[in-house]
Amino acid sequence: KLIELSKGCDGILTSITDKIDEDTINKLPDTIKIISNFAVGFGNIDLETAKKKSIIVTNTPDVLTDATAEIAMLLILGAARRASEGIEQAKSSKWKWSANFLIGKQLNGARLGILGMGRIGRAVAKLARAFGMIIHYHNRSKLSATLEMGATYHDSIKSLFSISDFLSINCPATKETKHIINGKTIKYFPDGAVISNSARGDMIDDEAMVEALKNGKFFSLGLDVYNGEPNIHPEYLILPNVFVLPHLGSATIKTRTAMGDLAVSNIEEFFKTGKCKNEIN
Ligand code: GLV
Repeated sequence: KLIELSKGCDGILTSITDKIDEDTINKLPDTIKIISNFAVGFGNIDLETAKKKSIIVTNTPDVLTDATAEIAMLLILGAARRASEGIEQAKSSKWKWSANFLIGKQLNGARLGILGMGRIGRAVAKLARAFGMIIHYHNRSKLSATLEMGATYHDSIKSLFSISDFLSINCPATKETKHIINGKTIKYFPDGAVISNSARGDMIDDEAMVEALKNGKFFSLGLDVYNGEPNIHPEYLILPNVFVLPHLGSATIKTRTAMGDLAVSNIEEFFKTGKCKNEIN
């Protein structure tokens, strides 16, 4: 369908549900010069093949940073304060307040590890600081003091995970980050940690995660993204300590409008100037 639609076109505007793999790119008409992705992530596009065919690929950074950081906080709060169980109880009309009813984890005073301190990771840090969390991070490189804003850098994931009462995953999906949360690395965490993922499903080995949620290694998990979307690992839908959302990171009118405007202006900029500042390949 996409290939049909692109006949006679100079560029295409794609979303994360469009799988633009090697085969698709090779079948695109030669007139296509740009693939403008309506997302900051670009795991849906084979950048190398596009490059080989001299097609530039662009994304929509910055405009979705705040909306995504807000969803990251919702995941942290939802998982820590047992929102899934709370909603179920409230709707059952069978609940009764008691001193130890649905006791969760408090954010204030806890250490938040941020995996990936790019634009979104830093925006999460800013919001989490307002909740009284103490910010630690791991990133490919240490940030400048201005960008760090007092956060503590860890040069390995082992070091970061071992102090993370909470973890927010905000790194891109790459070969290096695939299944970075796995049976081995889960052991690094303090018992009872709360994990949240607002980036991409790829970072989590779901089987190892389910095990850690069942055996109490992790207190809870908040997820907005999944391996094999729109499918969700069936255990995540059953386990009471998992708080799930359907990939809503950038879903606000303000942000989606800005993403659309940027995805279009990336195409315009490219055809006007021959390049584009949001080019990613
Ligand atoms: C959404 O997931 C995005 O990458 O923009």
